Amino acid sequence: MKTFTLNVNGQTRQAEAADDTPLLWVLRDHLDLVGTKFGCGMALCGACTVHVDGQAVRACVLPVSQVGDKKVTTIEGLAQDGKLTALQKAWCDHDVAQCGYCQAGQIMCATALLAEKPKPTDAEIDAAMSGNLCRCATYTRIRQAIHTAAAQ
Ligand code: FES
Ligand code: FES
Repeated sequence: MKTFTLNVNGQTRQAEAADDTPLLWVLRDHLDLVGTKFGCGMALCGACTVHVDGQAVRACVLPVSQVGDKKVTTIEGLAQDGKLTALQKAWCDHDVAQCGYCQAGQIMCATALLAEKPKPTDAEIDAAMSGNLCRCATYTRIRQAIHTAAAQ
């Protein structure tokens, strides 16, 4: 075990873990940030998506030892001072979530997409979001919410 010092949601956090412990478990079990979900554990479903230096990554397969001093952002770190981002608000306005399990990962992926492409086309949305699976099939409303946020 080692003590890792991480920058998570703008705060310096420490956690004791093995080198190969996935970031997902450090976030959930050590830092109590349980918004990020475990789905497949094999980089296949996107439920565990967080940002590392602004890029959407799969926390279930990223060893904590590879994070270093990069900035980690989880779903808990998007809203500032209780104010939802335009994308989060659009998600609520379109009532996107059904069971909600996949939704933190979907929002993190969509947030990274809009940072890179502020006005994505349907095809760009589908390509960017294709690795985030939703067993409730909320894909149409996800796309609508992304367009709504992009229009602001
Ligand atoms: S839990 Fe990480 S991609 Fe499925
Ligand atoms: S809202 Fe249920 S899995 Fe996506």
